[in-house]
Amino acid sequence: MTERTFSILKPDATRRNITGKINAVIEEAGLRIVAQRRVHLTDAQAKKFYEVHAERPFYGELVAQMTAEPVVVQVLEAEGAVAKYREVMGATNPDNAAEGTIRKLFALSIGENSVHGSDSLENAGIEIAQFFKDEDIVG
Ligand code: CMP
Repeated sequence: MTERTFSILKPDATRRNITGKINAVIEEAGLRIVAQRRVHLTDAQAKKFYEVHAERPFYGELVAQMTAEPVVVQVLEAEGAVAKYREVMGATNPDNAAEGTIRKLFALSIGENSVHGSDSLENAGIEIAQFFKDEDIVG
């Protein structure tokens, strides 16, 4: 089934000017970038986006990192896009990420791990709606 998933190229990627390199890995994996926008997240946006982690010890640092510099928010489309992008990203902790994955190639640490991708189709829908209107997604 053709799906859409939500992606963020994080501040460590924009800071190092490697968003194009990451997009090349995304596209080579067969994911189509059907919407994309650069945005500097506000504190409120980052807190809302990561609400599920609010009780975790790293929440404050996560919000601080995600608002420190701009990010690129994206919608990716492919057959089985949610699982496919999670495979392309690699494990959350780059030490555990497989060869050739985005996090193995580019991530600096578990916090500065270069990309976020939705963990389920349901969450993909919720996350996409937080940043994109239907007419801004061109498949
Ligand atoms: P992400 O997929 O954006 O979702 C939550 C983020 O929290 C995760 O990627 C990591 O960058 C960040 N994070 C920081 N510390 C941890 C941790 N100990 N466990 C999981 N995620 C962490």
